[in-house]
Amino acid sequence: MTENDFLSRTNSKTVENGSVTWQSPSNIALVKYWGKKENQVPANPSVSFTLDHCKTTTTLKFHKRESPAAKDEEFDFEFYFEGKKKEDFKPKISTFFKRIENYCPYLREYHLEISSENSFPHSSGIASSASGMSALALCLMSLEKEFDPEITNEYFNKKASFLARLGSGSACRSIEGSLIEWGEHADLSDSSDLYAIKYPYKVDAVFQKFQDTILLVDKGQKQVSSTVGHNLMHGHPFAEARFQQAHDNLHNLKPIFATGDLNAFMNLVESEALTLHAMMMSSNPYFILMKPNTMEIINKIWEFREATALPVCFTLDAGANVHVLYPEKNKVEILEFIKNELVAYCENGQYICDQIGNGAKKL
Ligand code: PMV
Repeated sequence: MTENDFLSRTNSKTVENGSVTWQSPSNIALVKYWGKKENQVPANPSVSFTLDHCKTTTTLKFHKRESPAAKDEEFDFEFYFEGKKKEDFKPKISTFFKRIENYCPYLREYHLEISSENSFPHSSGIASSASGMSALALCLMSLEKEFDPEITNEYFNKKASFLARLGSGSACRSIEGSLIEWGEHADLSDSSDLYAIKYPYKVDAVFQKFQDTILLVDKGQKQVSSTVGHNLMHGHPFAEARFQQAHDNLHNLKPIFATGDLNAFMNLVESEALTLHAMMMSSNPYFILMKPNTMEIINKIWEFREATALPVCFTLDAGANVHVLYPEKNKVEILEFIKNELVAYCENGQYICDQIGNGAKKL
């Protein structure tokens, strides 16, 4: 499919007003997306687990205007976050609307009221852009489906992923579950830079209900926005090698997923996390996003794994928080270890127990 497949078709119905609510999860990348080309096209393919508990709930109320907002006018919308009107969030949504306007021309025909809330604390250092942008994209697709009830579920999800990507790249991986791939890759003939797909090959049962305990090491404002971060890969001395490595890692994951080889999985996932941070440390300007407690946690995980041979590993986002990954069948003993040994390194002892989920839900 190309961008043109996502242009809106002629409306077969008139819709005066209505309301729709979607709940959409966050996701955690195993092979990381870091670096992008124009129009939110990823520099390399990535794969992620969709999460279950960390999610955004968004309600979109729409009311037809007497006449559409002119091209040089602002989009007509209000934004509420956790019940309060938020003017400072509006520019991000405005930019999103501008990017998707060609694909959703109906945006200018409505007054929109967007109300969002997150299941996780706002200032937790957990990026809400993936869950937030995917929830909003899904609400817009529900509106589009009212004009055009013939839209298939497949097209609905693809276009929702396509639109979410234009809001925040990794958001395109938050529509469905549970293992999601985004970006063209030689092994995956249906893969696309424009939207994410469900990972099409065999995935061993051990990865079902995989656990992700998120340790909130630093709840502060992100030191590097992801836009700045992705741009650091332009002219980065190791960029091409890194992009190739992501392709190789995705290829190498195929037998790992199929056989449930946890040792190989943990090795690849940790290497991906450290490479992401290595890219930031070796760019110019350079950043260290890990905190001393991030390192303490990583070392504790390695010691525990060495001592017990239990399958527990970590991954990182572009920040200091640590995602601790492990199979459901080892939940009791690993959660015990987390509580006894790792929570002490979290800001105010805060952590979130999540697991792999099945994707967004319409409420
Ligand atoms: O979607 P963005 O632009 O916020 O970028 C996300 C980048 C990482 O979280 C670091 C990696 C990933 O693939 O999710």
